[in-house]
Amino acid sequence: MSKQFDVVVIGAGPGGYIAAIRAAQLGFNVACVDEWKNGKGGPAPGGTCTNVGCIPSKALLQSSENFDQAGHHFADHGINIQGLDMDVGRMLARKDQVVKQNNDGILFLFKKNKVTFFHGRASFAAKSDTGYELKVSGAAEETIGAKHVIVATGSSARALPGAPFDEESILSNDGALRIGDVPKKLGLIGSGVIGLEMGSVWRRLGAQVTVLEALPTFLGAVDEQIAKEAHKAFTKQGLKIELGVKVGEIKKSTGSGQAGVSVAWTNAKGEAQTLEVDKLIVSIGRVPNTIGLNPEAVGLKLDERGAILVDDECKTNLANVWAVGDVVRGPMLAHKAEEEGVAVAERIAGQHGHVNFNTIPWVIYTSPEIAWVGQTEQQLKAAGVKYKAGTFPFMANGRARALGDTTGMVKFLADAATDEILGVHIVGPMASELISEAVVAMEFRASSEDIARICHAHPSLSEATKEAALAVDKRTLNF
Ligand code: FAD
Ligand code: NAI
Repeated sequence: MSKQFDVVVIGAGPGGYIAAIRAAQLGFNVACVDEWKNGKGGPAPGGTCTNVGCIPSKALLQSSENFDQAGHHFADHGINIQGLDMDVGRMLARKDQVVKQNNDGILFLFKKNKVTFFHGRASFAAKSDTGYELKVSGAAEETIGAKHVIVATGSSARALPGAPFDEESILSNDGALRIGDVPKKLGLIGSGVIGLEMGSVWRRLGAQVTVLEALPTFLGAVDEQIAKEAHKAFTKQGLKIELGVKVGEIKKSTGSGQAGVSVAWTNAKGEAQTLEVDKLIVSIGRVPNTIGLNPEAVGLKLDERGAILVDDECKTNLANVWAVGDVVRGPMLAHKAEEEGVAVAERIAGQHGHVNFNTIPWVIYTSPEIAWVGQTEQQLKAAGVKYKAGTFPFMANGRARALGDTTGMVKFLADAATDEILGVHIVGPMASELISEAVVAMEFRASSEDIARICHAHPSLSEATKEAALAVDKRTLNF
């Protein structure tokens, strides 16, 4: 007789492990199956986010930012450093340690919440009288039974046709986080979120970075004014960003005795170009993970992109089978996956789990950081919505001046008639933290006047948020 569970979660990324914990909190008998292996072949729950995504990328962004500060900004404070040096090996080891702390933390949380963890791959075997049978292939093979299944199998990097990842010279996000020496020349295909974050890491450490982007506009999903400001800052830092390009043949080369990559590309004017680099990171989006899941065994439907087809409540076409996170529609973000995981566990318990897709924040952890929630000015224009805009530059914020980081602005967009906040866009220091106030405000359907009338601590970067809200009514106090 196979082990029976009320809920089996497939995948222990942020969507899966959070769903498992919430379901256990609600009193269900829960199992979570994840196949990710650490360097020693042991379990490494946390998915892409913990192992090769959010967490390690932020660890490297922090290390490289520290190096950049020490090299270029400490002297402004009277701190002089002779012989500044970067030990890349040590930086990578620290990053691995941060990842391990997170892996261990999740295993601890499973124990604390009495979630049974299986290390291995789960696939649908059959429908059963009580729900579903799942095959788990790990160190041992076994079949487990589930009344409810939550699929949270995540996504993987998309490769360019004819240029598979070898993680030596043609790198996905995985290899991009493990480069052992600072490459002299680094190429990136795609100026999306990964391209900009990874490009920033290696640029700060001394690589000459060229980014090739197919679209003619920079960060098309970002508010135009904010994207323009960010583009200016990145270009000033030395990131070479080519827009409107067509990438052609990619060949591995052996220039100057070292393995490298040669990329044929056409620029926006239609001129043929070649980019020779030591390493090439391909970051052109991600594809949902369903290989090995065997959805056919139970008739689980996928959409044309290979994502699991779900409705607004993460219900699939099968009774009691749910799917959350990167493997379904919507933004591929860890916090979106988590919110869906919690909501599904609550729906299984008969509660009214809810995810507000209009208030999911986005953050790009470059320097300056970029963060936003709600609609952009171009979206409002396209929808014919009448709005008022207010901006406030960090240049006029006392805390930003004290920090020595005055790039960027906060921008508010509010309904012209009701003053309800429709979008908040930030480029500048600590945008990742500042955006939370805007998310709360939008969740409570606040007006810009509400934020303008709230007392904000002085001196703080959050005063720029208050001032941008005041700017909607053209009454900034410090600009
Ligand atoms: P995943 O995290 O991909 O987890 C899925 C898990 O399921 C994996 O462990 C996988 O091994 C396992 N699995 C798959 N199939 C099976 C199977 N059949 N059996 C058992 N296990 C299986 N998002 C943010 O919000 N903020 C960030 O700063 C951020 N930074 C990122 C940086 C990078 C470089 C990358 C690549 C992504 C980043 N993301 C970020 C996106 C974020 O990582 C994803 O949105 C998030 O991990 C999705 O969570 P998930 O639970 O859906 O899937
Ligand atoms: P992305 O969707 O952010 O960007 C991909 C870019 O590649 C786009 O600008 C696209 O126009 C371009 N592109 C596509 N095909 C191309 C081609 N053939 N030639 C040149 N350019 C091409 O995808 P990315 O950067 O791979 O990241 C995947 C996802 O991971 C993100 O969308 C995001 O959801 C998540 N992520 C989130 C982070 C965060 O929240 N801070 C950090 C990193 C990733």
